[in-house]
Amino acid sequence: MSIIEPNSLLSVPTGPLRISKFPPSSAYRVRNNVLFSLVIPTYKERDNVQKIVETLSKLLDESIPWDYELIIVDDDSPDRTWEVAQSLIPEYPQLRVMRRQGERGLSSAVVRGWQAAEGKILGVIDGDLQHPPQVLLQLLRAVEEGADLAVASRHVDGGGVSSWSFVRRFLSRGAQILGLMFLPHVLGRVSDPMSGYFLLKRDSIVEANLNPVGYKILLEVLGRGNIDEIAEVGYVFSERLEGESKVTWRHYVDYLHHLLRLRLTTGHLGRFRQKLNFPIVRFLRFGAVGFSGLFVDLAVFHILRQIIGLGLTRSTILSAEVAIINNFLWNDVWTFRDISRWQKGGKARFRRFLKFNVICLTGVILQALIVNLLFNVLGVNQYIAKLIAIAFVVLWNFWVNLKLSWRITDVNK
Ligand code: GDD
Ligand code: MN
Repeated sequence: MSIIEPNSLLSVPTGPLRISKFPPSSAYRVRNNVLFSLVIPTYKERDNVQKIVETLSKLLDESIPWDYELIIVDDDSPDRTWEVAQSLIPEYPQLRVMRRQGERGLSSAVVRGWQAAEGKILGVIDGDLQHPPQVLLQLLRAVEEGADLAVASRHVDGGGVSSWSFVRRFLSRGAQILGLMFLPHVLGRVSDPMSGYFLLKRDSIVEANLNPVGYKILLEVLGRGNIDEIAEVGYVFSERLEGESKVTWRHYVDYLHHLLRLRLTTGHLGRFRQKLNFPIVRFLRFGAVGFSGLFVDLAVFHILRQIIGLGLTRSTILSAEVAIINNFLWNDVWTFRDISRWQKGGKARFRRFLKFNVICLTGVILQALIVNLLFNVLGVNQYIAKLIAIAFVVLWNFWVNLKLSWRITDVNK
């Protein structure tokens, strides 16, 4: 058996982002579970990490000595934040450090940290000292007194932002209002749904399938957790002294994406979709790709006929094939991205392409059969017949491609 150094890095949990009811057993720990596990996500926080560990340790040593752990989850920062953090372990024995190399992103970092956590109460705080540490004790008390979730909020008594520009305030509030319209049952429950500073009971998110994008992990917890009682504590979001914020325009896009995903998978709509058991989002993407193919087809057809002067049949076949290639590529990198990602390599992709091609061609034949049946046998108007046939064939193409070309059973992890 290998002996694990007490100062070694935590191993990074893999698989789905789900928190188990019982903490992971860690062979090298003598003591058992702690009450409270606080995750500190970091990316390029080299100059902040010592200060935050020192402040939090002092605070928690006074109130719950030995009954907590600090878990730094660093996304392999180029400034080697994880290394600085690791060097602090001898001085702060409650500190644990995870260096994540495969995945990236604030929200998933927090979940990975919680997955490695031993506490009955889980929490998160920024690593740049913009979240005042003292508030932690109030949050902790709120959970100990029965709240499932305790959120540090800028929008209740005692809360605020120190000196944000008008633009930043506007964007922050705008994002919140948009979220409220989209997901009232999630964002409406707290005054500051954008907060990245909160604590919750492990039990309230046990076994939930978390699937966060971007920065707003609290939305995910509210949307998918099992949370009744919520407490809020005011705090002032202070200025950064060291390092810089990692927020870019990309995070606003991620935020919209996250809202949409939660909208489609939680609440009434989510339950309805579960019953329906049809991959609606995938199908819509497939439809959009098909629509793009129509324009590719027409454009290539035009070029071949008018500019190159090719015959009608050849132009038709060639332009259709180009459209099929177009559709295949988009479907491979977008519609079925999650599946093709697991079937890497040119050969596997080419095989998918061949199957896609054959399925699309059978679709064309099927379409001709349906149009004939509707028009010649049932006397349906020819355009309506064509529309019905197209609708049917799109469904056929989608379904058969899902089952044969991008087959989940082929996935080799
Ligand atoms: N592991 C990891 N991976 N950590 C990250 C990443 C990442 O990709 N991106 C950012 N962090 C860490 C930062 O190092 C910092 O400790 C914390 O997450 C917050 O990142 P900032 O870039 O400083 O965010 P902010 O100050 O603009 O926003 C904060 O305040 C908001 C209040 O509205 C965040 O806490 C938000 O979550 C919070 O909503
Ligand atoms: Mn910050």
